[in-house]
Parts: sequence; C-alpha cells; structure tokens
Amino acid sequence: MRVHDVVVVGSGLAGMEAALRASQDGELDVAIVSKVFPTRSHSGAAQGGIACAIGNQDPEDNWEVHMFDTVKGGDYLVDQDAAELMCKKAPEIIYELEHMGLVFNRLPDGRMAQRSFGGHSKPRACFAADWTGHAILHTLFEIVLKRKVKVYSEWYVTSLIVRDHTCHGVVAYDIMRGALEVFKARAVIFCTGGYGRAYKITSNAHANTGDGLSIAYRAGIPLEDMEFVQFHPTGLYGSGILLTEGARGEGAYLLNNDGERFMKKYAPERMELGPRDIVARAEQQEIDEGRGINGKTCVNVDIRHLGKERIMERLPQVRDLAWDFLGLDCFSECIPIQPTAHYSMGGIPVNLDCECVIDDKGTKIDGFYAAGECSCVSVHGANRLGTNSLLEACAMGAIAGTSAAKYAKSAPDLSLPDDADVEAKREIDWLLNARGSVKIADLGDELQRTMMDDCGVFRTEAQLKRQYDVVKNLQQRFQSIGLSDRSKTFNTELLGALELSHLLDFAEVIVLGALNRTESRGGHSRKDHPKRDDANWLKHTLAYKDVDGPRFAYKPVTITRFQPQERKY
Ligand code: FUM
Repeated sequence: MRVHDVVVVGSGLAGMEAALRASQDGELDVAIVSKVFPTRSHSGAAQGGIACAIGNQDPEDNWEVHMFDTVKGGDYLVDQDAAELMCKKAPEIIYELEHMGLVFNRLPDGRMAQRSFGGHSKPRACFAADWTGHAILHTLFEIVLKRKVKVYSEWYVTSLIVRDHTCHGVVAYDIMRGALEVFKARAVIFCTGGYGRAYKITSNAHANTGDGLSIAYRAGIPLEDMEFVQFHPTGLYGSGILLTEGARGEGAYLLNNDGERFMKKYAPERMELGPRDIVARAEQQEIDEGRGINGKTCVNVDIRHLGKERIMERLPQVRDLAWDFLGLDCFSECIPIQPTAHYSMGGIPVNLDCECVIDDKGTKIDGFYAAGECSCVSVHGANRLGTNSLLEACAMGAIAGTSAAKYAKSAPDLSLPDDADVEAKREIDWLLNARGSVKIADLGDELQRTMMDDCGVFRTEAQLKRQYDVVKNLQQRFQSIGLSDRSKTFNTELLGALELSHLLDFAEVIVLGALNRTESRGGHSRKDHPKRDDANWLKHTLAYKDVDGPRFAYKPVTITRFQPQERKY
C-alpha cells in the first residue's frame, strides 16, 4: 500500500496546477498518478491560446465581457457563478505562468500579445505561437519536479475507493510491473481529461478514453451534462487531428467546394469566428448538402493570404501538421478539414471549490475533488469557447489543489475498507483470463464509427435509439472478449480492454442523455427538435449508475447576471 496526503490523478494542466497548489506550503505529501508520462498529457496538444481579459489588444476588455461571452457561447447552460470565478481569476493565472518562465508571444511594446478566437467578442487569447498547451505543460512540469512532488508515471488508476460518502484513495495498476496497489489518501483529485476516443474522428490523444468519468460513475457519483460533446470545426480531414482555431483567429477563411466563404450564411457578423458549435454545424451542413470539397466529407481552411512570415511566427505547427499528415504546403494550398470530436462539456459534478457534489442539495463526497475536462463545474455550459479550456484547467486545477489541501490538513486518518481493491483485482483477473472470440479492437472500432454517425454533430431520435441499441449490444459482446496477451509487463491489450469497458459505460450515458434532451442547445443539436427550449430544458442533466443503466435527474442552472437570450453571431 502507498500512502499520501493528496493524490492527484492525471498530469495535464489541471493535475499539475492542483499538485502545485496542494504542495505549496510543503506541509503535505502530494503525489501525481498518471497513465502517461506527464509531458505526454493531452493538454500539450492545445494549440491556439489561453483566454484572459487583460485588454492588451483591446482596452475595452474586462472579466465581465469575458464572462458574458462565455455564458452566451455556452448557450446559457453555464453556471454563471462559476464563469465569473474563472474569468476573474484569469489574470492571476496568466501572470503566474509568465513568472514561472512561460514565454508568451509579445506585442511590439513588450506586453503579451492576444488574438481572436471563436465566440469571444474581444481578442483575449494569450498564446505561445500555436504551442500554447505544450508550453504551459512543460513550464508547470518543471515546477512539479522542483517541488519534488512524487510522480507515478504510467500507472493506470482502476478505481476510486468511496465508502459512506467519503473518499479513501484509489486503486492503481503499475503498467510496467503489472501490479495492482492501493493508494491511501486523505484527498483525491481527479484531473483525468476527456473522452474524444469514443469517436472515430477526434482531435484527442489515444489515451483520452474518459476513464476517470466512468470510474467515478461506478463509484456512485453521477455524471453531469454528458450529452454535450464539442466538435471542433477544424480537424485535419481523415484523422481529425487538431488544426488550431488560432488560424481563424489570425484571419483564415473557411471555403466550400464552390470557393464560397460559407460562414456568411450561418454567422454573418462573426463569420469564421463564430462559436464552435455553430461553425461545426455549418461545415456539416455544407458537407451534407453536397458542397464538400470534391464530394468528400470536408471543407477547406485557407491561410495562404496570411503570408509565410505571419504563419511561421504565429502558426508554425499548422504548417507542420498540414505537411506531415496531408503532404500539403499551406503557403500555396488550402487544407481540407472536418468537424472533429474535441471536448466534453460534461463530467464529474463539482462546486466552486471543486468538491464533488452528487445532487442538487449539495451532498458531497468528502475528500474527492475534480478539475479540468473530466469535471463539470459548468463554466462551459452547452458549448465551450476556444481557449477557455486551458484557462479552466489551470484556474480550477489551482482551486482544487487548494481546497483538497485544506481538507487533507484537517481530515481524520481513516482506516481503509478491507475490500478496497477486491473489485479491481476481479476485473483484471477476469480480463487476463478472458478467452472468448470477440476482439476488443473490433468493438472499439464499431463504437467509434457509430458514435460518429449517430451521436455526432447532428442527432435525431431515430439515430439515438439506434445508437443506444448498438451500445447495449457492444456491452453484451464485451462479456465474450478474448485477450491474447497475458503478460505482466506493458500489457497494452489489457489496458485497451479496461479503457473500452469505460468507453462503453459512459457512451450509454451520452446517448441516453441526448435522447432525453428534446431540444437543441450548444453542442447538442437535435434535427427533430431544432430550437432551444428554456421552458423545459434550462437545466443540467445528472446520470446515476443503476443496475440496468443510467437513471436521470436534473438540477437548475445558476443564473446571476445574464438572463437567457437568443444567440446571434
Ligand atoms: O483550436 C485550438 O487551438 C484549441 C483550443 C481549445 O480547444 O481551447
């Protein structure tokens, strides 16, 4: 057994910020447990910027304008107290990163440069070329190392130990040794990221299988607003690899097969800088109506007019990605792109202190916290604005670390339940001895393809019912899988099976949540219910694990400053 005061699961921006805050005064023993080496965490793939209303590019900007844009962008499902907290905290986070050594792009007068992003009415993305996530991740990791936070790298958390509304730690599998161990902790912070890998076309890394979500769900914690899946408008055609929205922030055009800047039909004022849900839907509509490039399922992004110098200064990764993955020279050619599953607006419900809260009465799981993409404090509501994720990860990660540390300092030293790792052992044993004929790769592929087709940018009742049947069928066939690798060391097939079982658990929640929600709001777009319906659906979904599948409840949205209005861009 390993013992720490605070265990942070996940080593992206939220996880590192959490660990840094929890270890700040040196009083607590803090550990990070991560299934990948920390600098391979998916936060490093975020490109275009981190939002902060410091007004360097437009002095009229301030936290309240940022908050309004966030609330409107989120189609009014945003909890406004959370959005206010995040937008107000942004400057502290940005300046702190700068003081840690992060090199942001500058204006000629030396202040931080800022650029435009979709749905933001002011240029407020601070950026390090188009390597912003990478730069922040490495900067934070340096401090984590300096602080001597214990890092368990390539350890896979299999379960959360919760009894009587109190968290006692986690069970984790050392991928190198093939050994399960119990981690006893006074406080656990989940910063386990998103689940793009539930979809075939995704910007997400292979590791983004949403394990943390279903681990919490299996421990009796509900999942909030899972039907809201963000499709980023510019995934490289064929793979979905991210091509930053920063390109449009710098002035890129979106073109259909007729060479038309089609966004004028969908967001006449903001054009290519509409929010992601609207731009992704516009692209999908162009494609569905036959105006994709050469009849394919893509449209073009055109950055040729920005010129080589600006591209190399501000978008060098765009150039590399187009060349490396599509063999295209973006100085002289357009880049084919398509909507790509990018971000989960929903997740583990938490309050403003990042404490896990399991109902609308504020009932907590003591000692359990979450931050970043796996959580839902609902700063993003039904649709996240670009660059708000890095901000949320850093800001809420920091808050989670501070809250967990405060709790850990006063929490009683509880003895672990005797059966803490029984279920995890049973699961691993079962998988290592599974000798059925069904291959996990086939199930995973079918899940990703069908989620893309029937629970994607647009949805209908018929599609969602079909997809529900598919998921139930996949869950059933999972019982007949067979693994061919029974080794202990780096058994990636075993990990794949564990990940798939998680994907199958929460895919059911996404699909049923989407089927229930008979309206269109943000990233959830029902062709058979095309309007937002505030009278019936201005509320958050909570899905609880029951014997036969999820049980749904709802809770109100927190509205403080901005009453819902029709969204126009
Ligand atoms: O397009 C991008 O650079 C992605 C940023 C984000 O998701 O916030």
